[in-house]
Amino acid sequence: VLTAAVDAAPPPTHTDEAQVPAYTLPDPLKFADGSAVSSAKDWTERRRPQLLELFAEQMFGKAPPAPKSVKTRTLSEKDVFGGTAIRKEIEVTLVEQPTPVTMTILLYLPKTDKPVPVFLGLNFRGNHTVTTEPDVALNTNWMENKTPGVVDHRATEESRGSQASRWPVEMLLKRGYGLATAYYGDIDPDFHDGFQNGVHPAFAKSGQSQPAPDEWGSIAAWAWGMSRGLDALEQESRVNAKQVIAIGHSRLGKTALWVGATDPRFAIVISNDSGCGGAALSRRHFGETVARINYSFPHWFCENFKQFNENEAALPFDQHELIALIAPRPVYVASAAEDLWADPKGEYLSAIYADPVYRLLGTDGIGGAAPSTELPPVDHPISNGTIGYHIRTGKHDINDFDWEQYLNFADRHLRARKN
Ligand code: GCU
Repeated sequence: VLTAAVDAAPPPTHTDEAQVPAYTLPDPLKFADGSAVSSAKDWTERRRPQLLELFAEQMFGKAPPAPKSVKTRTLSEKDVFGGTAIRKEIEVTLVEQPTPVTMTILLYLPKTDKPVPVFLGLNFRGNHTVTTEPDVALNTNWMENKTPGVVDHRATEESRGSQASRWPVEMLLKRGYGLATAYYGDIDPDFHDGFQNGVHPAFAKSGQSQPAPDEWGSIAAWAWGMSRGLDALEQESRVNAKQVIAIGHSRLGKTALWVGATDPRFAIVISNDSGCGGAALSRRHFGETVARINYSFPHWFCENFKQFNENEAALPFDQHELIALIAPRPVYVASAAEDLWADPKGEYLSAIYADPVYRLLGTDGIGGAAPSTELPPVDHPISNGTIGYHIRTGKHDINDFDWEQYLNFADRHLRARKN
């Protein structure tokens, strides 16, 4: 057990650009031994696997392999929004033994004669909070008390629709996209209980009461659950499973990036205000830091990650390389101007420092010539390339402005394709 895990007091943080230390980022286009990654083949066959392994071992923790098949059951299916769309609730069995763990997907699909692209993202408070529709099942699992309508860690009717502003379902449907979402706590409740609940215990090796230092924390578990969500969508004939977009806000944006890195079936990846442990560079030490996130959320990453508390220079990678792991698939990183905790500048720099990998793989990266290290102006998305970025006015949240950009980005990358 690593003692660095338990700090007595919250490690200090700041949001002062002048206090950003001098740092040198690892070069994604150099192997661990310093030699150059000079071709797409070098990247795909050697450098990418090396980096993926490092992120798994040292940060998110290794997850179990995908099961051979995933069991699904349709709980409900009906026409909604005046008959223009179909709504389904699908139960996905994540593990069967020793205690079954299931996740319920809420799926909306526009009625068309062709399979449609779908945004897949986890939600914070249960499927019934995504919509005001009265007949979406109320989630009965543990959840944080913080939000209105949650009493003694259980949702009540009062919470119905409380997160609807984050999920503009009809806007997506009108643009020809489906939406699949599930409550992240179905996969693993978001509190530190030594990994006794959720999906972790089912995979513990005999004699092991919690994951080894290089095995999965909660973010890796949520990402693994998203992959099972995609398994389930592959069984839906009305879904174009080759055009599923992983999306997530905040801790679930960190999750979207990790599932994008580990599961190449996702066609596009969207990180909304993902911050520390997501898109933001750790070495900038701005806003939330490695030490702080491990202090506040000791269960999110693997135990090994705690070695880098106040020691970011020792990290064998930085977050631009997490984005690079998604290449050449389109990726979109978004920030909010008032969300300094998530370090907008660090999120932007990660996106542009992934650009050389995108270009090596034959894409236009962030588009245009060499990208500027200056943060672009607020509300002016840079989204003509394979890497998209915007910083919008306002707070830590996901809203219609964000979704508009994601829809435009997805249109540009998916509509032209035949598959
Ligand atoms: C906290 C945490 C962030 C996280 C955010 C969220 O602010 O420090 O790392 O992204 O919660 O998930 O909303």
